[in-house]
Amino acid sequence: MAVEIKKVSKEELDTQRGFVSKVSSLMKSRYEDKPLACVVTYGCQQNVADSEHIKGMLEEMGYAFTDDRTKAKLVIFNTCAVREHAEDRVFGNVGALKKYKLQNPDVIIALCGCMMQQKHIADKIKKSFPFVDLVFGTHVVHKLPELLYKALTGKRRVFELPDMDGVIAEGVPVKRDNDRKAWIPIMYGCNNFCSYCIVPYVRGRERSREVEDVVAEFKCLVKEGYKEITLLGQNVNSYGKDLNPRVSFSKLLRILNDLDGDFRIRFMTSHPKDCTKELIETMAECDKVATHLHLPFQSGNDRVLKAMNRSYTREKYLSLINYAKELMGDELSITSDIIVGFPGETYEEFLDTVSLAKEIKATSLFTFIYSPRPGTPAAEMDDPVPYEEKSRWMRQLLKVQEEISAEQMALHKGKTFKCFVYAKGKQGDNYLAARTDGNLIIEFEGDEGLIGSFQKIKVTEPLTYVMLGELERNDI
Ligand code: 5AD
Ligand code: SF4
Repeated sequence: MAVEIKKVSKEELDTQRGFVSKVSSLMKSRYEDKPLACVVTYGCQQNVADSEHIKGMLEEMGYAFTDDRTKAKLVIFNTCAVREHAEDRVFGNVGALKKYKLQNPDVIIALCGCMMQQKHIADKIKKSFPFVDLVFGTHVVHKLPELLYKALTGKRRVFELPDMDGVIAEGVPVKRDNDRKAWIPIMYGCNNFCSYCIVPYVRGRERSREVEDVVAEFKCLVKEGYKEITLLGQNVNSYGKDLNPRVSFSKLLRILNDLDGDFRIRFMTSHPKDCTKELIETMAECDKVATHLHLPFQSGNDRVLKAMNRSYTREKYLSLINYAKELMGDELSITSDIIVGFPGETYEEFLDTVSLAKEIKATSLFTFIYSPRPGTPAAEMDDPVPYEEKSRWMRQLLKVQEEISAEQMALHKGKTFKCFVYAKGKQGDNYLAARTDGNLIIEFEGDEGLIGSFQKIKVTEPLTYVMLGELERNDI
């Protein structure tokens, strides 16, 4: 039986802090050096953000980190349930650890994330993967210290998978993967129940963090020197509908935009159903909000959109995109998610998706072949088109998009962009990679010390998915 959403109490968080000390003492008594933990993350940015909290808690419990699973005393797989392929990879990778666990019985193998929130998966782990010690769901991540302590000291395997609408846990420690780029989840869960999607079943109902909590975390990040901060939610456009008083996502963006400091705000994901003109105007008016709109349309055909339960039409989607283009012009970059081969989709209907892609001219698309998710309505629908045929459709779409992407990039030749330099580049030894406001990547030759700063870069040669450029001035 699902229970009401609540904020995790101070007492509960104190209890967890008590377990942090207990695990920490236990580790000191068992190992001379800090034990190593390996956290493997699958799926979306929300999972990446959850893993950063998992690592934050582990660090407090005395763990250091490794990417090598066979050196770790604790391996945690943070899983994704959105497509079958991701699930298969998890089973394969967990299975591959069986021998290591049998040879090293003191190692703890743990599984968490969206996959675990599905009963048939948890049952399979219980039955067929007896060497897995700890399994916990998406609503109890903050209880990791207690669960780990039980797994380390008890004789039984630990399964903590409450069926609930979800919680909000503030103040859980965080160890971020990057020191200039950060994620802030502003809301959790999803209420939309798109007919193909498992997320609402495994992540619970929509719940927003209080504005003060988001602002406090944001201010801290800016103070620590973070430059690119991405606000996360399955559907950020419905942020604040559950708060009292209600706050709109646009309002939150304006509050953050008004904070002092040199930073850039990104956000994802937007749902066209809840994306408002006000949001587009806010993006256009707020100088620190990136002019990048990730607005998944999934299909360009109204019958398919209805069967997907998306609650908007092709026309409504186009009117939003056109308004955004009107206000932001060339500065705007659009990206989208698309599902190819939804059950019952015909080739003609798929061609409407291709024509919509041609019409909106996205800078890039994230395209997926439909994957049936047990428990969702679409998984019960007739799906007569064979996978090979869907793969052909997919290749056709990718070819079209490749031309559009190249065309879009070509428009930028000779232009100068303020970019955030985020990593070493791939084009050559001295290259660095930077992102424009619109989320386009420019690679240029420069000193590694520029990583983590904003720079002005002029595009010299646009390629298909990346542009080459040169540093124009380095005093911004
Ligand atoms: N099959 C294929 N793609 C899916 N997505 C969500 N569920 C499925 C599914 N069952 C895609 C959607 C969503 C993105 C995160 O994953 O395009 O926007
Ligand atoms: Fe899934 Fe739709 Fe919710 Fe996105 S909006 S998480 S696709 S149900």
